[in-house]
Amino acid sequence: MIKSPRGTRDLLPPDTALWNFVEAAVRDVFRAYNFHEIRTPIFESTELFVRGVGEETDIVSKQMFTWEDRWRSLDSGDNLPPGPQFEAIKQQTDAMYAASRRRGQSLTLRPENTAGVVRAYIEHKLWDRGLNKLFYIGPQFRRERPQKGRYRQFYQIGAEVIGPASAGSESPARDAEILELLATLLDRLGITKWTLELNSVGSSSDRVKFNDALRQALAPVVEKMCADCQRRAVTNPLRVFDCKVPEDQPIIDTLPTITQFLSDESRAHYEAVKQILNAVGIPYVENPRLVRGLDYYTHTAFEFTHRALGAQNAILGGGRYDGLSEALGGPAAPGIGFAIGEDRLVLSLMETESAESVVRKPDVYIAPLGAGMNRQAARLARELRRHDLVVDLGDESFRLKKSFEAADKMGARYILIVGENEVAADAFALKHLASGEQVTVPRAELAQRILRKK
Ligand code: HAM
Repeated sequence: MIKSPRGTRDLLPPDTALWNFVEAAVRDVFRAYNFHEIRTPIFESTELFVRGVGEETDIVSKQMFTWEDRWRSLDSGDNLPPGPQFEAIKQQTDAMYAASRRRGQSLTLRPENTAGVVRAYIEHKLWDRGLNKLFYIGPQFRRERPQKGRYRQFYQIGAEVIGPASAGSESPARDAEILELLATLLDRLGITKWTLELNSVGSSSDRVKFNDALRQALAPVVEKMCADCQRRAVTNPLRVFDCKVPEDQPIIDTLPTITQFLSDESRAHYEAVKQILNAVGIPYVENPRLVRGLDYYTHTAFEFTHRALGAQNAILGGGRYDGLSEALGGPAAPGIGFAIGEDRLVLSLMETESAESVVRKPDVYIAPLGAGMNRQAARLARELRRHDLVVDLGDESFRLKKSFEAADKMGARYILIVGENEVAADAFALKHLASGEQVTVPRAELAQRILRKK
């Protein structure tokens, strides 16, 4: 049997109803905050993530699905039959094949979508539009060890606010609006037991000082740490905080935090964000050790965690990335965004909501009874569906008992019987399945009758 690859899964009904419920709710919230959808490719140049997310991050160094893509439509000259008449063509095709190999490029399934959105911002000169408020919903790919809440293909619901500073992109008001949007979104979905963890990771120059201090603090102890940390201590000391090795944690706990290295401006930005959050009543917990696992962050960094999720408790994460556009060769374009792990969001939701409760069950199941009745049933189904009723139907070969069983199983509210007598009278037997009450209803009144809630 061929199974889905490790770390991927099929989402099946009725669970997909919960996914749709979530996506419909977030689209409503995004609309209220004037965000618009962006769809970027599922694969991008590898270089985008190396430069955007950072070479030393776990994502780029260990988790990407990357391949060398060649132009394969050309075949090498080897397949030509021998003979002097083919020699010239052979040389030509060999040369083209070699050139195509040189033109080949390294591609990667996107492990996250911020880099892709900023690439699109630069490619399409979106600064002409002022402040861009964009959202996306879609799959991301990371080769991680699968466990509950952690998959190799997972889904993110994300948003990015990006634009020139003159459009207000740098303002702490943007940070606060993003955080308030997230609180609203989770509340609306009925997910209440969340904690917002907040930090400032400062500007890039604050981080130069912080990295120096980390290097110094690490120098006397780094030998006792894992090989990854020994490398990080030299190349990108901040990434030491991503270490999961238990023996290294006591050392990591003694390292300085970024807070002491924030400039006055960085501090002022952070304070302004907190003041707005206080004003709108969004609770948060400050966590000076929250640095996030991607290199592009500046200033505000945050995660929302949820108790029900266990080890993989980060339901979403995000922050500001004021230098990312420049790092990707674009103009200055301060930005802030987040990505929700949709798989984890749905898991949290399952605490309170069953998939069954959000599925819309058929309003009516039509049971054609006897030869020639499929035609009549199809006509009726077409009429009723025009009234936005959910209609399912059986087959004229089914005995009545079988139709009743099918209607019951799918949770239909009514069953409508379509036999020769009913067609002749143009009035049909309509039975309410829960109460067993049965009435004969003329064709013209059927939709209204079924629409009446029972
Ligand atoms: P991230 O923290 O890497 O940030 O991912 C965001 C969320 O995606 C996580 O909090 C988690 O819920 C979910 N997630 C990550 N990996 C997995 C996985 N293997 N399986 C299931 N869920 C997962 C980013 O991706 C940034 N691009 C967020 C951002 C947007 N920052 C600024 N703008």
